[in-house]
Parts: sequence; structure tokens; C-alpha cells
Amino acid sequence: MSPEAERVSSTPTAGGRHLTLTVGPPAAGGTFVARHEGRVVFVRGSAPGETVTARLVDDPEQHANARFWRAEAVDVLEAGVDRVPTVWQEASVDGVGGAEWAHIALPAQRRIASEVMQELLRRAGVTSYPIEQVQVEPAPHDVDGLGSRTRVRFAVDEEGRVGMRGWRSHEVRDVGENPLAAQGIRDLRLGEWTAPEGTEAVDAVAPSAGPVSVVLVGRDLDPASLEIPESWGDADVAVRTGRGLVPLRGDGLVHERVGERLFSVSATGFWQGHRRAAELLSDVVQSVLKAPHGGSAWDLYGGVGLFAAIAAEQVGSEGAVVTVEGNRRASQLAQENLEDLPQVSTATADVADWVRARRGGVDVVVLDPPRNGAGAELIELLARTVRQRIVYVSCEPSTLARDLAVAEKAGWKVVDLRAFDLFPHTHHVESVTVLERA
Ligand SMILES: C[S@@+](CC[C@H](N)C(=O)[O-])C[C@H]1O[C@@H](n2cnc3c(N)ncnc32)[C@H](O)[C@@H]1O
Repeated sequence: MSPEAERVSSTPTAGGRHLTLTVGPPAAGGTFVARHEGRVVFVRGSAPGETVTARLVDDPEQHANARFWRAEAVDVLEAGVDRVPTVWQEASVDGVGGAEWAHIALPAQRRIASEVMQELLRRAGVTSYPIEQVQVEPAPHDVDGLGSRTRVRFAVDEEGRVGMRGWRSHEVRDVGENPLAAQGIRDLRLGEWTAPEGTEAVDAVAPSAGPVSVVLVGRDLDPASLEIPESWGDADVAVRTGRGLVPLRGDGLVHERVGERLFSVSATGFWQGHRRAAELLSDVVQSVLKAPHGGSAWDLYGGVGLFAAIAAEQVGSEGAVVTVEGNRRASQLAQENLEDLPQVSTATADVADWVRARRGGVDVVVLDPPRNGAGAELIELLARTVRQRIVYVSCEPSTLARDLAVAEKAGWKVVDLRAFDLFPHTHHVESVTVLERA
């Protein structure tokens, strides 16, 4: 072992074979590519340029003919230049999932994520934009990527211990200091608490306005069985059973401030997870959407109305904005959040169904789909319907790349693409792409 070598984990394998591997470029999904006797091995917990002892995840006998194997680095024999002491010991290879790059320097994480995103765009065949210009930028004022997660789902085991699951594992593991979570969530000290019988998960939220929220999730959970611990301070508390959300303290909502506007969000509903994300994405969408005054805009996959508020300001009171969201509660909240903007209407519907049923066109669209992206059918519908500009907010570069290639074939071009590190210490990337007619 070299002097700079670092022991990552000494957990013995359950019969898994160990290989010595030299690790090369990044692959999608947060792993890195190595080769063993000509076969590709995707290695988790490593970094480019290092030599590691890796434990095979796949049984080599059962997968003798597979094109690739998967492995996890358990010892570092030669550290790569990007390796740093992990920011979260409990998230190393045998620990909790969700921080697979915590052992890589933050600027290197962004460089690697940029390389992966560029490669995905190239492979999808995107040609209308200079791909080498795509660089993952940090969120403003985010110096170390710590304390930025405002939404954390904890898992609970049968004894009521609260932790998180391991990567591809059902085992609930200790989160330790949980340094990626916002301070308000860490202060709850959920790892020291025992959840009542029937608790399957705990959702903790540290919103930008108002108290922290804790929701216990369990189909048959008895709300009366919960004694709220002192460490939760004045947090709002609710229980989500098979019959719905039962608020015990507060009203089951959290509040988020973006500029002057306050948004109500269900305590278990979607809101951008990084504490700077909503503001940053709003600013970017604001500068690129360019909805014409008196014109029309659609906010697709609209959630509680974050981007509809921007579109509404741009079109003004003579314009028209529709925000389309599939979740009934989110759609209802969007209506309440934007009730001072009569130019906004809400539709509770599947986005593709709703767009397919439109007869007229629209000037601009902002869409923010979940990880599986918009898909070819919706992109082709939008390519025919939208008159001026499509702004695509994405949390998954692989589905974005696929959808952009479809848009190019349908006669559109990418005129801007900005990528952001809104999931520090993971391989995930958020981005905003602007499309115009070619
Ligand atoms: C990534 S979130 C974006 C929400 C919002 N734009 C924001 O930034 O707060 C995606 C949203 O799409 C909704 N959604 C997912 N699939 C949908 C579909 N097929 N039709 C309509 N809405 C959908 C989800 O409920 C979620 O609110």
C-alpha cells in the first residue's frame, strides 16, 4: 500500500470476489470505469486514476457472460489526485447511500459531472450546441456542499431505529452527523430517537420560512402512539397513514420564500431540495423564459407554482399562464399560492394528456419533469405547439440528452444550457436548457 493510501472499508464480503483494479474515467450513475481481463467493471466508491481493491457486487460465475460487472472499492492502494478525506464517514461504501462522491474534492466532483454530462449529450447525438461549454456550476455561496439538503427521508428498521438505507440495500444504517442535511434537520437528532411501532419512514423538512417539519410515515401507524421528543423543539409534526396526513402540530404544510413570494407546500410534497435551488432556478428561468407581455405560457410539471409565478410576471395581467401538475394537492396549493395572479390558471392532469388535448399554440413553455424526463411524444407535441421558446429544467442529464436529441430532429436547437451542482457530494446534476426553433 502506498503512503497516501486510505483504508475505505474493511467489511468482509459475503463471498464476493476481490479484484485489484486501476480506475479510469467516470460512467453515468456515479461509478468509474475499470477493466479486468478485457471486461468493463463499474466501480463505486473510487475516483479517476486510482488503484483499488474492489469487491465484486455481481457473482462472477453467475455473470460469466455479462458485458460488465459492478464492484465497490474497499481499499485504496494508490489514491487519485481528486481523493480527499470523506465529508461523511457513514456514507462510505458499506454505509448509507446518497453521498457516493463524498470522498472526492468538490471542484473535482463538478469537473467529473461535467465530463459525464458532455458525454451523455454527445452519445445522444445533440449537435446544435457546443457541448464542451457545458460546465457544472456551484450554487451561489455553496463553499463545501454541506448543510444544503432541506428534505431528507429517513428509513426506520423494525426496532424503530432511524437511519438511511445502504446503496442497493434494505438495511437501515446509522447516519452519524449527517453533514449534508440542513442544520434544522440535524438538530432533530433523529438517529438518537426510537420511532413508534409501525413507522416505516420519517420525512424531515427544513424550509426557508417557518418551523422545521417532521412527518412519520406508516400505513397502520397510530398517531396517538407518538410522544413528541423535546429535541424536536417547535417543529411541526404530522403522521401519514394509509388514510392520509394527520397533523399533530401545525397544519401539514411548510412554507418557502422565494424573493417576495411565499409558497405553501405539503409537508410531504415536492420542493427543490438544495436550500439555494428554488431561488437559483427561479433567477435562471426568469432570465431565459422571455414570455412576451400579453402573451401565453405553460408551466408543465408545475408543482406548487414556482415557475408559473415568473411566467405570470412576464406576461402581465393581459397574458395567460397555465400551470399543469399531476398531484392534486400540489395543484390545489399552486392555485392558492398564485391567487393574486388572475392571469394564472391551474390544471390537474397528466402533462402529456393535457398537451395532446390542446388545439391552439402557446408562446413559451417551461417544463420541469421528474427524472424520467419528458419523453419523445411530449417533446414532439411541444415542438409543434410552442411558438417561441422552450425552457427545460432537468434533474437527470441522461433523459435530458435523449429529449434534446428528439427536439433537434423536430426542428429545434439548443441555444443555452447551464448545469448546476444542486446535489453536492453525489453525481446528480440539475440543469436549465433553452430551446428555440432552428
Ligand atoms: C421535478 S418536480 C417540479 C415541480 C416544480 N416545477 C418546482 O420546481 O417546484 C416534478 C413535478 O411533476 C409532477 N409530475 C410528475 N409526473 C407528472 C405527469 N406525468 N403529469 C403531471 N405532473 C407530473 C410531480 O408531482 C412534481 O410535482
